[in-house]
Amino acid sequence: MSVESLAEKLREMVTGEISDEKVLTEIREASPLEISKAEQKLLDSEDIDEGDLREFCKIHLQAVQEEAEMLKEKAGEGHPITTLVREHEEIIHMLDRLDELGDSLKREDLDEEEKEELYHISEHIVETEKHHEREEEVLFPRMENEGITGPTRIMKLEHEDMWPKKERLNELAEDIEDNEEEIMELIGYLSLNLRDHIFKENNILYPSAFDELEDWEEIRKEMDEIGYCCFTPGDEVK
Ligand SMILES: [Fe+2]
Ligand SMILES: [Fe+2]
Repeated sequence: MSVESLAEKLREMVTGEISDEKVLTEIREASPLEISKAEQKLLDSEDIDEGDLREFCKIHLQAVQEEAEMLKEKAGEGHPITTLVREHEEIIHMLDRLDELGDSLKREDLDEEEKEELYHISEHIVETEKHHEREEEVLFPRMENEGITGPTRIMKLEHEDMWPKKERLNELAEDIEDNEEEIMELIGYLSLNLRDHIFKENNILYPSAFDELEDWEEIRKEMDEIGYCCFTPGDEVK
C-alpha cells in the first residue's frame, strides 16, 4: 500500500468513516517508515483536528507495542535499549494522565490535588531531558558513524523543538489559574509530539541501533555517567 493511500485510510479512521480495527490491520502490514510518512502527511494537512490526531497517535502506538516488546526481549535486562524503551513507556503514561488533567482544566474542574499532580508531572517531563541527552550524546554519534544520519538528525531537531515547551509547561504549572490557555496548548503540543517522537524511536531508530551497534557495554557505561530520570524503572536509576 502506498503512503498516500495509507494516509487516506488514517484520515478516514480519524474522521470515523472506517473502524479503528480495519486501520489497525493495515498499520500492522505497513513498515514503520511508511506509517511515519503517512502520519507526517496527516500532521501537515490542516483539516485534521489536534484532538483527533492525538487519538490516532495513541492507537498507532498500541498497534506497534508488540514491536517494542520484542525489542526489549531481544535486548534483555539492563541493556541500554531496554532502559530507553521502558522510559518511553513511563513517558506515555505521564502523557495519558496529562491529557486527562488537561481535559479537566478545559472543563474548569481541576481540584487542588490535581493541580499539584499536573505540576509534578511537568517536573517529570523536564526530567526526560536526561533521556534525550543519553540518546544524543551516546547513541546518535555512534549511529552516525555507521552512516545512519537522517533519523538522528530528525530526532535531534524534535528534541530541540520540545525542550522549551517542556520548560515553559513546568514554569506555568506553578501558577495554573493565570495560565490556563497556554497550559492547555502546551499539553496538546507535547502529548502529540512526544508520542510521535517515541513512535519513531521505538520503531525505526532503536531497532537499527540494536542491529548496527556492538559496543553495548561501553554504551551502558557512558549512559550511566550521564545518569537516569527519576522515573526510570529498574536498577539503573540508583
Ligand atoms: Fe529522543
Ligand atoms: Fe527517546
